[in-house]
Amino acid sequence: MERTAEPYRIKMVEPIRKISQEARIEALEAAGYNPFALKSEDVYIDLLTDSGTGAMSDQQWSAMMLGDESYAGSKSFYKVKKAVKDIFNYDHVIPTHQGRGAEQVLFPHLIKQKGQYILGNMHFDTTMAWIEMSGGIPVNLVIDDAFDTQKEHPFKGNFDLERLENFIVEKGPENIAFIIITVTCNSAGGQPVSMENVRGVRKIADQFGIKINFDSARFAENAYFIKKREVGYAHKEIKEIVAEMYGMGDFLTMSAKKDAIVNMGGLIAIKDDGHLFAAASASCVPMEGFVTYGGLSGRDMECLAVGLHEGLDFDYLENRIGQVEYLGAELRKRGIPIQWPVGGHAVFVDAGKFLPHIPAEQFPAQALSNELYLQAGVRPVEVGSLLLGRDPETGVQKKAGVEFMRLTIPRRVYTDRHMDVIVDALAKIWERRDQVKGLEFTYEPKVLRHFLCRLKPIES
Ligand code: F0G
Repeated sequence: MERTAEPYRIKMVEPIRKISQEARIEALEAAGYNPFALKSEDVYIDLLTDSGTGAMSDQQWSAMMLGDESYAGSKSFYKVKKAVKDIFNYDHVIPTHQGRGAEQVLFPHLIKQKGQYILGNMHFDTTMAWIEMSGGIPVNLVIDDAFDTQKEHPFKGNFDLERLENFIVEKGPENIAFIIITVTCNSAGGQPVSMENVRGVRKIADQFGIKINFDSARFAENAYFIKKREVGYAHKEIKEIVAEMYGMGDFLTMSAKKDAIVNMGGLIAIKDDGHLFAAASASCVPMEGFVTYGGLSGRDMECLAVGLHEGLDFDYLENRIGQVEYLGAELRKRGIPIQWPVGGHAVFVDAGKFLPHIPAEQFPAQALSNELYLQAGVRPVEVGSLLLGRDPETGVQKKAGVEFMRLTIPRRVYTDRHMDVIVDALAKIWERRDQVKGLEFTYEPKVLRHFLCRLKPIES
């Protein structure tokens, strides 16, 4: 693919530095071999997440000055509401402090009784946690091809429509609380969902009277893939594609820290159901704050209103996703196994294939993440069996479909030279991959253990 240059120039920089290898060894040991516990000043290239780590534009920074800090009815809120109406055509808007705030406020109103199912392509981990804490049971129905990292498929985030329909028939539609379409599908590798698939989900949902929520963190990146890969969309604007997608949904939850390129923020938007909006509003007040700010300051909302539009810019998306593709293609050239084609926000390295001598219960993707930090000061994140945890009933370690190490690329932050550093470092590890050791716990928290656990290499 032909690369385009960045459609912006840089007018502010943040110095970063690479500490010595001895210092990295010490820092990682002190962090209990868990990159989450590293200090960011000890990290050279930080690929932990694309969430809240993007660089805001001059338009966003200057919009901050307009922030209306009124407790109720802030002008800044109405700008967000207008942007949401303009882009998604949903009438009711509740800001929240981030994506999980939106999930926390909305989900309990959608789950009518304990034990109802929430069907998704693949739920993100906090989404799954809020479904469970709201009494629901999350179910993932992504196509099997999502787990075959070497298989070429343009839309690996798609629902398996047959399984979706069969599941509803088998359990009964009254036992389904709602459907979540996650665009792009983060847990499957930032993989997009096709318009045709969204249409298929809508058809099934209508057949059984079920509502659809879009988990919208990377809605613009998903639209970009539809434009590039789906027949009939090449000449459509990103905004038109987003409008078509969201025309098939009923409400959305959004972590605005990704495609809306803000450092903090989230959203709930509801197409037209007055009752749901009233109920969610009532929950928002004690949980997130009054309904016209939901945990955000006026200046945050100003940046969000601008960022929602900026995220739709085709030239920006082409360059951003082009950079992720560049990183993926360079790794592939060196024989490194990755989820292919690459997703929108990250390259997902198949650590199970990279380190076949390390079993799932010794966390190959975490071992590889640590190795990459030691090699070059790069901090990736594990999305594999460590994140997945144990079966709550039996305590047995669950085994991830794929042991992913995610190299998550922040928006408008790093250059291609940074990508080259990552490629060189992984290529060096690839050459001595049989020497990388698995890990065992020295401290294992019961819930969401990957954030706070401590580990050590297994000496053989
Ligand atoms: N949904 C998806 C698809 C996400 O990727 C995230 C966050 C959330 C919901 C929750 O949003 O963090 O604003 O509360 N993903 C980040 C990540 C944390 O690193 O992928 P949040």
